[in-house]
Amino acid sequence: MDRRQFLSIAFLSSITSSTLVGAAPFGLHIQKKKNSMERKSNNVTPIAICTWAFSNASKQAGEALERNAAALDAVIIGVAVEEANLKNTTVGKGGTPDREGNVTLDACVMAPNGDCGAVACVENITHVAALARKVMENTPHFMLAGKGAEEFAYANGFKKENLLTETATQQWKEWLKTSEYKPIINIENHDTIGMLAIDAQGDIAGACSTSGLSYKMKGRVGDSPIIGSGLFLDNDVGGAVGTGMGEEILKTVGSFLIVELMRQGYSPQKACEEAVHRVVTKNPDHTNFQVAYIAMNKAGEIGSYCIHSGFAMMKYQDGKNETITSPSFLK
Ligand code: GLY
Repeated sequence: MDRRQFLSIAFLSSITSSTLVGAAPFGLHIQKKKNSMERKSNNVTPIAICTWAFSNASKQAGEALERNAAALDAVIIGVAVEEANLKNTTVGKGGTPDREGNVTLDACVMAPNGDCGAVACVENITHVAALARKVMENTPHFMLAGKGAEEFAYANGFKKENLLTETATQQWKEWLKTSEYKPIINIENHDTIGMLAIDAQGDIAGACSTSGLSYKMKGRVGDSPIIGSGLFLDNDVGGAVGTGMGEEILKTVGSFLIVELMRQGYSPQKACEEAVHRVVTKNPDHTNFQVAYIAMNKAGEIGSYCIHSGFAMMKYQDGKNETITSPSFLK
């Protein structure tokens, strides 16, 4: 982690602490739950998983869990690593802009007690998953969008930042020369970060954060801030997150589908496969876009599946941070 990412995460801890109580040894704070809930141990050591080979994200989240962070704190810490990573052109600061040169971000979070929050089409704020958590905790609403979300961020201590880097500006200007209208999803290396964690108490939380499709239409919002599509979990069952072509994930409500299949007894792997098959069956154009899911059940079993090969997930557990290549529908 470089100094800028470290400072960014330190800032995150500071804005989070205003609604938290009880200092933990690593500078985070243990969350005071809004709705108290029985915590059930499921005899699983803490796990953090995330989409793509975002190894530093899973490591930071996993290490936070080992220091007894709550699952929700851990996923916010994990996705913040990629939100601050200028080399990541699909999440946070450094993300690819829309076709008019605006970087607009989408994110959501979901807590073990079923509470959730989201922000959509937000400009000038790097840590949008943390902002989504603020929406969940400090407003009576589920989602804030656009200028309203941005103003809410400033009112809650987030700083204004220019998210459009010099590199992204140059690439956008290059894209303008042809202005290829059709959205091209990156099918090979990275996209949205979706993360799930089980903490030492056995509770599951999740977060999802993205800059969305490269050169999307102004105002376009994808699956990532939509609970049930980009992210869904049930603390009694497990969770799922999606990455890839948001429109396809939205049309099949993929993450909700996976959790409901796990509720019926599917393994996380089989549930991810079924959700990808649903997309493939419904859309003959599926060779032209990527959709990928990862899932984890309450027992800590994981799975992943995607349309195109090239997708991988990260898993951190018991001090081991592994990259797991996903099986795919198209070989
Ligand atoms: N999955 C990210 C998006 O479509 O916006």
